[in-house]
Amino acid sequence: MKELLAFLEDEGVDKTLLDGVRAFRERFPVAPELLGRVPEPEYFYYGKKTWELALAALLAGKNLLLAGPKATGKNVLCENLGALFARPVWNVSFHINADAAYLVGTDTYDGSAVTFRPGPIWLCAAKGGFGVLDEINMAKNEALAVLHAALDFRRSLDVPGYDRIDLRPETRFIATMNYGYAGTRDLNEALTSRFAVLDMPVIAEGDLQKLISRRYPAIRVKLRDQLVKLYAELERKAESAEISDSALDLRGLLDAIALMEQGLASGDALEMCVVNKSFDSYERGLIRDVIAARFPADLARSDVFET
Ligand SMILES: Nc1ncnc2c1ncn2[C@@H]1O[C@H](COP(=O)(O)OP(=O)(O)OP(=O)(O)O)[C@@H](O)[C@H]1O
Ligand SMILES: [Mg+2]
Repeated sequence: MKELLAFLEDEGVDKTLLDGVRAFRERFPVAPELLGRVPEPEYFYYGKKTWELALAALLAGKNLLLAGPKATGKNVLCENLGALFARPVWNVSFHINADAAYLVGTDTYDGSAVTFRPGPIWLCAAKGGFGVLDEINMAKNEALAVLHAALDFRRSLDVPGYDRIDLRPETRFIATMNYGYAGTRDLNEALTSRFAVLDMPVIAEGDLQKLISRRYPAIRVKLRDQLVKLYAELERKAESAEISDSALDLRGLLDAIALMEQGLASGDALEMCVVNKSFDSYERGLIRDVIAARFPADLARSDVFET
């Protein structure tokens, strides 16, 4: 992924780490039949320091746990890392029924014979993939127990009834977990101990400017900067507990820009994508005030975009 490497050089990411990535890619070329699994990200992850921490951990052979609030780019970073290291990626979602058979694989009868149908963890292990363990803290402990040997120095996977397999040297697991959501749980210590844990920061103001401009090249700079300040202000208010973090949602802010691009008035777009993320009418009022201090509600598409 040449474009991504050039982006990281532009961002000033440590050269030694990037050289490490190049060496990794040369050492572990992708099998042609797996090329379709190597991500081609539409969006780049912004955050130099986070990039450096993630690259160092993966180059050192560690598994990575990305922990942080909603919409901090955890999945975008996973995808970017898969692309950068040029690895086939398997996504594992820990839905309520995810059990060891789903993760590792299970016997299946195809009408004539019983064969082993590998699960995503097995495929990652055998094919040198990056496994994205999405929202791992939602998983049942029984399901996670099968991962213990795969995630520590043993780097092996035991499939009951079959041979134990060793993980390929380039296999890595990147888990994400969201804290602050109702219904999430902590991750048990034995599992946490098997990851290098990256605390995902909220995007920096300068990075958010770059992100918005890249995604919406025609946006007027003044408007863009107002949106960035609005986001920073919501962040401040959430931090000082004046509002909850329900409206502090970068997805919402970016969605609002998309709706304005469709021609929706600024007030309506921000109402739908930011204000209404809170279900508390008093809090909605507070959020509306923060927005009103920066934006007239009746900005049209031509006020927001150059063309
Ligand atoms: N630092 C960042 N760099 C690039 N994009 C970012 C960053 N932070 C947030 N985003 C944007 O926020 C949106 C959400 O990103 P993503 O889905 O990766 O978040 P997440 O952390 O996985 O959220 P959740 O915990 O809700 O699943 C995307 O549009 C993404 O581009
Ligand atoms: Mg996510």
